[in-house]
Amino acid sequence: DRTVKIAPSILASDFANFGAECAAVEAQGADWIHVDVMDGHFVPNITFGAATCAAIRPHIKGVMDVHLMIAPVDPYIDDFAKAGADVLTAHVEAGPHIHRTLQAIRGAGMKAGVALNPGTPAEAVSELLDMVDLVCVMTVNPGFGGQKFIDMTSKIRALRAMIGDRPVHIEIDGGVDPTTTPLVVDAGADVLVAGSAVFRGGSVANPAPYGDNIRAI
Ligand code: DX5
Ligand code: ZN
Repeated sequence: DRTVKIAPSILASDFANFGAECAAVEAQGADWIHVDVMDGHFVPNITFGAATCAAIRPHIKGVMDVHLMIAPVDPYIDDFAKAGADVLTAHVEAGPHIHRTLQAIRGAGMKAGVALNPGTPAEAVSELLDMVDLVCVMTVNPGFGGQKFIDMTSKIRALRAMIGDRPVHIEIDGGVDPTTTPLVVDAGADVLVAGSAVFRGGSVANPAPYGDNIRAI
């Protein structure tokens, strides 16, 4: 299914109201909920971990898409499975054994994703395409919301060609808005993460602007 999906990132939402924020964007048409886990080591910022994902889970009806910006990954995979992650994405740069990590993610019953930083070429995942459900192309250097989009359209096109007829999503993360969306969708992306572009202008009390923002993307 290559229908384009919108995955609001709760990194841009109200951290004191994750449950209500997730329910609000789902009610306004969000397809997936994107959850950014940062460790202050792999990336220069700290957010939250598996316990917070478990607390959010009952407030999400659809797919909980967990993006790990942590190293190491392997000791925490079972925690995120128990927390109810549907998709668990690890960075190809997070360690020397991404193949083992992706095996373990699927082994724990989740869909597996692999993410690439802007400086990492498409070829870094060429041996992994039969063991993932999703490739996440970072269009910012990970760590913070609200950064300027970095054009990765040639990498997206290369990945779409490498993926061929495999059932693998290409997810775009960083700086997605109504201006950048046509570029990445034309290049072959089918899951769009959007933080600031979705959550700006709305609130838990008045989520209608979230829906307008989702439809504009
Ligand atoms: C960045 C995160 C993104 C971030 C995107 O490190 O992985 O998911 O929330 O935020 P925007 O859409 O504001 O660029
Ligand atoms: Zn993310």
